[in-house]
Amino acid sequence: MMTCVWLYVFFTILCHSGLCEVVQNFSDVPSCRRFFYQGQEPLGLSSSKTANICQRLQGVYYYATLYHRVARVPIYSAYILEQSTTSRPDISSSNWYLEPMLADIAREDMLPPSHSTMQPVLDAITESQAVNDDYRNSGQTRGHLNPSQHHSSESQISTFTYTNMAPQESNFNSGTWNQYESFLRDQILPACSQAHILTGVILSGSSPGEGKWLRNRVNVPTFFWSAFCCIETSGARRREGRLGRNASPYDVVNKTIPQLQDILSQEYGGKVVLFQGSCQ
Ligand SMILES: *[C@@H]1O[C@H](CO)[C@@H](O)[C@H](O)[C@H]1NC(C)=O
Ligand SMILES: *[C@@H]1O[C@H](CO)[C@@H](O)[C@H](O)[C@H]1NC(C)=O
Repeated sequence: MMTCVWLYVFFTILCHSGLCEVVQNFSDVPSCRRFFYQGQEPLGLSSSKTANICQRLQGVYYYATLYHRVARVPIYSAYILEQSTTSRPDISSSNWYLEPMLADIAREDMLPPSHSTMQPVLDAITESQAVNDDYRNSGQTRGHLNPSQHHSSESQISTFTYTNMAPQESNFNSGTWNQYESFLRDQILPACSQAHILTGVILSGSSPGEGKWLRNRVNVPTFFWSAFCCIETSGARRREGRLGRNASPYDVVNKTIPQLQDILSQEYGGKVVLFQGSCQ
C-alpha cells in the first residue's frame, strides 16, 4: 500500500513536470508534432478544459488528440492518412484502450482496462474520461474521429481508444460520414504524397444540463467536422472541409477551410486556424 501511494505521488510529480504523454504543448514531442501540417497545431481550439494527448501505443506515437476533460470527448484528432492493408482488429469495446495520464497516472502508453496496472486505478481513470459503460445501451455508437480504416496494423489498433471516440448516431457513423472517410481513402490518399487530416466535433453543450449527454458524463456532439490538407505529388496543395450533422438527415456539407474556421471560431469563441497558411 505504501509503495502504491509513493509511486502515485512520484508519477504525479513526473506528470506535472511535463514528462507525460498528456503534454503541455504538442510541440514538446517532435514525433507528435509531425501529425500536424507543418508541425503546427490548430489555433483557437484549446482551453483550460482540454488536454493534449500524444497517442502512444507500446512506445510508438500514432496521432494526436485534443481531449475535452469535461465533455469527455476529443475536440479533434490529428493524423496522417495511411494505407489500410489490415482488417479491423477484433477487440471487444469493453477492452478498448484508455489514457492513464488523464488521471495523472504516468504511464505513457494507452492501456486496456484489463491490464494489471489499470485494475487498481480504474475509478480514477473512469472519472477522467469516457469508458465503455458510458456508451453501453446509450443508443449512440462509439464514433472514431481518427478512423480505423485509415491505418494498418498497430497504427490501426491505436485508434481503438476512448479518447478518440465521440457519441455518434448509428446511421451517421455507417452512412454519410463513412462515405466521407471512404472518399479520403479512395480519392485523396492515392493523389497525395502526404495528407494531414483533422477531424473533430462541435459540442452540444459545455456542461451537463446544456445539450445532450450520456449518463451526465459524455457530451453528444451536434456536428462532426473534418478538414484535410493534401500535398499532391506535383507539390500543389488540395484542401477541403466537411461539416456533418449528428442528427437526421445526417447531411455532410462541403466547406472551404476558411468557412470551417469561421464556424469553429463562432463555436469556440476565438480565432481558429486549422492549417498553417490555410494549406495554400
Ligand atoms: C506551443 O509551442 C509553440 C512553439 O513554442 C508555440 O508557437 C505555440 O503557440 C504553443 N501552443 C500553445 C497552444 O501554447
Ligand atoms: C464536395 O466535394 C467533393 C470532392 O471535392 C465533390 O466531388 C462534390 O461534388 C462536392 N459536393 C458538392 C455538393 O459540392
